[in-house]
Amino acid sequence: MSVDDDIVPVVRAQRVHAWYGSSHVLHGVDLAIQPGQTVGLLGRNGMGKSTLIRCLMGLVAQRKGEVSVNGLDTSRAAPHQIARLGVAYVPEGRGVFPNLSVKENLLMAARAGNGGRNDWTLDRVMSTFPRLAERIGNMGGQLSGGEQQMLSIGRALMTHPDLIILDEATEGLAPLIVAEIWRVIDEIRDSGIATLIVDRDYRKVLARSDRALVMQKGAVVLQGASPDVAASPALAGYLGV
Ligand SMILES: Nc1ncnc2c1ncn2[C@@H]1O[C@H](COP(=O)(O)OP(=O)(O)OP(=O)(O)O)[C@@H](O)[C@H]1O
Ligand SMILES: [Mg+2]
Repeated sequence: MSVDDDIVPVVRAQRVHAWYGSSHVLHGVDLAIQPGQTVGLLGRNGMGKSTLIRCLMGLVAQRKGEVSVNGLDTSRAAPHQIARLGVAYVPEGRGVFPNLSVKENLLMAARAGNGGRNDWTLDRVMSTFPRLAERIGNMGGQLSGGEQQMLSIGRALMTHPDLIILDEATEGLAPLIVAEIWRVIDEIRDSGIATLIVDRDYRKVLARSDRALVMQKGAVVLQGASPDVAASPALAGYLGV
C-alpha cells in the first residue's frame, strides 16, 4: 500500500460505460484525479472525451459504472448536486447567459468560499481577466467568443471548485486569446485547484499536466505521468499526428 492510498481523489470513475441510444460509446473507463492534480485527456475526434466528462457530471442519461466526488458516491447524482460537491464544468461551446451582464453572470455563479487565501472573489476574477473587467457592464451576448470563454471560466472559479473541467477551452479562438486562456489555466493550476483539460494542442496539455490519459474508441489506451505519455512511441498513432 502506497502513501497515496490514503488520499481521497476529487473525482474517481470506475468501469464507466455510456450509450447514446443503441450506440455504446464508453467501454469501461477508469479515471482518478487527486486533489490539486492537473490531468490531460487526449484522443482524436469522437473517441469519447466529452462523453466521459459528461458522465462525471451526471449529464449522460444512459450510463453505468461508479463515480465518486471527494469520496461521495455520485453514480446516480444530478448535475447540480455534483457541481455543489465542488466540480465545475466549462463545456465545449461555453454557456454564458446572453441577457445578463458580465457582472451578473459572475455573481449568479458565486458560492461562498472559506475566506481563505484562495478565495475567488469578483475582484480576483476581474484581475485575472482584465478584458472582463473592461466589459463588466456588457451583456454576455455582446462578448466575443474569447471573452465568453473567459467569462465561462470566471463563472467556474466563482463556485470555489476543487476541480475545474475544461473541454476544448481554446477551440476556435484567435492565437492571442488562446495564449491568455493558457495563462489563466496555469494560474488556476498554481492556485491549487485540480484541473481536467481536454485540448487539441496535445503538446501544451502534456507540458502542463501531471498525468495524461489517451482515449481511443471509448477506452483508455495509454496513460501515465505526462512526460512518459509524451515520450511514448504509441502516442502519435493514437492522436493521428
Ligand atoms: N448526443 C449524442 N448523440 C449520439 N451520439 C453522440 C452524441 N454525442 C456524441 N456522440 C457520439 O459518441 C462518440 C463520442 O463522442 P464524444 O463527443 O464523446 O467525443 P470527443 O472525444 O469529445 O470528440 P471531439 O474531439 O470531437 O470533441 C462519437 O462517436 C460521437 O459521434
Ligand atoms: Mg469533445
